[in-house]
Amino acid sequence: MANNKVHIFDTTLRDGEQVPGCKLNMPEKIEIALSLEQLGVDVIEAGFPISSPGDFKSVEEICKNVKRPIICALSRAIPKDIKVAAESLRYARRPRIHTGIGTSPQHIEFKLKSTPEKIIERAVEAVKYAKSFVEDVEFYAEDAGRTPNEYLAQVVEAAIKAGATVVNIPDTTGYCLPEEYGRKIRYLKENVKGIHKAIISAHCHNDLGMATANSIAAVQNGAQQIECTINGIGERAGNTSLEEVVMVMKQHSDLGFYTNVQSRMLTSLSQLVANRMGIVVQANKAIVGANAFAHSSGIHQDGVIKKRETYEIMDPADVGLDRSRIVLTARSGRAALAFRAKEVGFNLKKTELDVIYNEFLVVADRQKEINDQDLTHLLKRSFEKINLSLH
Ligand code: KIV
Ligand code: ZN
Repeated sequence: MANNKVHIFDTTLRDGEQVPGCKLNMPEKIEIALSLEQLGVDVIEAGFPISSPGDFKSVEEICKNVKRPIICALSRAIPKDIKVAAESLRYARRPRIHTGIGTSPQHIEFKLKSTPEKIIERAVEAVKYAKSFVEDVEFYAEDAGRTPNEYLAQVVEAAIKAGATVVNIPDTTGYCLPEEYGRKIRYLKENVKGIHKAIISAHCHNDLGMATANSIAAVQNGAQQIECTINGIGERAGNTSLEEVVMVMKQHSDLGFYTNVQSRMLTSLSQLVANRMGIVVQANKAIVGANAFAHSSGIHQDGVIKKRETYEIMDPADVGLDRSRIVLTARSGRAALAFRAKEVGFNLKKTELDVIYNEFLVVADRQKEINDQDLTHLLKRSFEKINLSLH
């Protein structure tokens, strides 16, 4: 039974918007935030307010317009950042400040030029300062994926003691394997004093194509929140894809997790974000790609026409599509041709199908796909020939 709720923290407007060339204007951000609210996400990370006046204003406007979800603003562990994040959230009904610092050896030595002890001090100060503005403070240990578990546990424990309500364990560089990331979450669950006072959050990047698998491993090991973006957009290879983790938990209800996301809105949200950001969704993208519910080989088409479940593990209606697509190509068989011919108004007899199928293959070998218009044209032409040969 799915009885463990997983909070969905959407960061399309913050980590997602870090994609080069994908700047959204304020009305577009508000439109996406309102759609995310309807989708049922629990948290919207609306921006990084210190980064620009435009981002500050967008967070402020999202706070005025969005009512139900928590609105979160990002900051570094720098007092000015935190203060500006707090100001941008002043109209939010449920504000959250997201603050944090790098904790991996690479970040401490090369980026921050600091020491492990000083990083813990800065983490504690940042959480305490954020706490002076809002009750709900999420702490992130940047590059937690490459941070040794013992040290990570010390940082997380100190952040919770300072008042963090959520502890985010980002695999910033997308380095971890699912088993390794799951073990990291379990380690924190079992070794951090006070861990029951905070929600553990998974934040994965997709550099090795494992963001979804890592996020699912995290919830299986004790995380209660997943940070993700629509279409998996984000820095480099992107973030965990919201639609993927939501549908994994829905399809595998035996895992025992559920979310509040209205999965029937996934396709429309994907298209909205793709349009506004000007990023085309790859055709074979799981759940929302143009081919995710399209069948083009004869064997698969025959199976799906007989019974959809032969080659589909999800009902297209569950993600907001009215049906799967039977695509006519040179790999299609007679069953697919008869099926599509019927859709455009031609009920073919077996003898007609045999003749027309050969004509169809000649055309299909010349072009990639036969659309409704091509098919109607081909059927009319073939029937004219059949009729002529009868006279
Ligand atoms: O990937 C990351 O580490 C982040 C943090 C700023 C939360 O996006
Ligand atoms: Zn990130």
